[in-house]
Amino acid sequence: MDMRARAADEQFRLLVESVTDYAIFLLDPEGRVTSWNPGAERIKGYTAAEIVGRHFSLFYPPEERAAGAPDAALGRAEREGRSQYEGWRVRKDGTRFWGDVVISALRGPGGELRGFAKVTRDMTARKRERDNDLLRVAMFERTPAGIAMADASGRYVQANPAFLRMLGYSADELNGKTLGDVTHPGDAEESWRVFTDLVQGRRDQADFQKRYLDRNGQVIWARDSVARLADADGRLRCVVAMVEDITERRRAHEALRESEAQLRALTRRLVQAEELERRRIARELHDRVGQNLSALNINLDIVLGQLEDAESRRRLEDSLALVDATLQSIESVMADLRPPLLDEYGLAAALAWYAEEYAQRTGIRVDVQNAHDAARALRPEAAVALFRIAQEALNNAAKHSAAKRIKVLLEDQANEIVLSVSDDGRGFAPGQAPRGRWGMTTMRERAEAAGGRLSVESSLGTGTTVRAAVPP
Ligand SMILES: Nc1ncnc2c1ncn2[C@@H]1O[C@H](COP(=O)(O)OP(=O)(O)OP(=O)(O)O)[C@@H](O)[C@H]1O
Ligand SMILES: [Mg+2]
Repeated sequence: MDMRARAADEQFRLLVESVTDYAIFLLDPEGRVTSWNPGAERIKGYTAAEIVGRHFSLFYPPEERAAGAPDAALGRAEREGRSQYEGWRVRKDGTRFWGDVVISALRGPGGELRGFAKVTRDMTARKRERDNDLLRVAMFERTPAGIAMADASGRYVQANPAFLRMLGYSADELNGKTLGDVTHPGDAEESWRVFTDLVQGRRDQADFQKRYLDRNGQVIWARDSVARLADADGRLRCVVAMVEDITERRRAHEALRESEAQLRALTRRLVQAEELERRRIARELHDRVGQNLSALNINLDIVLGQLEDAESRRRLEDSLALVDATLQSIESVMADLRPPLLDEYGLAAALAWYAEEYAQRTGIRVDVQNAHDAARALRPEAAVALFRIAQEALNNAAKHSAAKRIKVLLEDQANEIVLSVSDDGRGFAPGQAPRGRWGMTTMRERAEAAGGRLSVESSLGTGTTVRAAVPP
């Protein structure tokens, strides 16, 4: 070798020695390592002393080694002069890196195989970036949320399939349309206002609900999450919107509200029907059964005056007592159905009568106070409503509260008559009341049907207050 060739050879060696970004090394024809550069040491973790003489299959993950990949790579380089591939490679410490590998066959002047040169580059960072890009693209393409980007003039520049599907446009059709073109006219002004704020940097982000119009002019309700995307110097790149179609959800919500309103109306009808029916039964009992029993009573009394026989008299007296008892129980049933005092003497009297009867029946002490004769001016239907509410509240107290005392108060307050029933019983947590019960619901409905409202205050241990306020 002449001087010039030797010098070039030396320079080349120095070059290889100084490269640290690439692992550059030689293999003998069997694949054993014969030279090693600092780049190889840096990337793979072995020193030259550790690796020279070992087979290069060491750098492959076990599964690839088992599949014969190292020999295949050499075979291809030998046949084609060169083989290039990317894949996971193993470092000395067992960690992996993504390598871009080129193997070239080295041949002597007579064409005989002398070995291989292998150049490997660590592309892990680039691979991650690429994977992330792929992931981002996949997310953009496949997420169920619509994503659309608009330039500073509000023209759509990109949209994902979900957004296009939502509005029924193809990508080409949407191209060139502005956000105003796909927004419901009723929401357009507000949409442009928010958009301008974003473009001019007055805000970075906004969340709101709006209506779009799809390709067929159908209204699409959506929840928009809009943000301004800026480059490093704060200049606007685009405005990006994440759009969720909530049309169905709103529809379901409205249907629910409607059926709630229907249920209310139904309960109100039920309450009214119940009141009418009670009144009818009370009237029937009074007019037919009551009258007849009274007549029977008188007849029996007359017959009794004419009887001599002791046994017959005893029988008849017995019958008279039976008729009396029946009359009384019918009266008390009638009173329950339609307290007579309510119509004749008003709410305060009816409440006083009911409270007394209740106290006797339950053993709970009840104080009724009618402040300022509040109930005098009450409309009949409001009086009935308050009376029934008091009845249910008192029955609830007897059933659920274990109260010792109950206060029933009628007050006259700023254009309202307020009834409150407070017990000193165990109370209940609002969330824990069992479902499918009617008392509370009908009390509320009665109050509302009378143009007022009902509130229930209760907490464990301190008792319960039911308060109904209705206009007089
Ligand atoms: N005064 C009270 N003290 C303690 N708990 C009460 C009181 N009033 C109501 N509750 C609780 O609230 C629940 C609901 O009352 P509501 O009147 O609606 O139903 P109910 O009395 O159980 O049954 P219904 O009135 O339909 O016959 C009761 O089951 C009870 O647990
Ligand atoms: Mg009840």
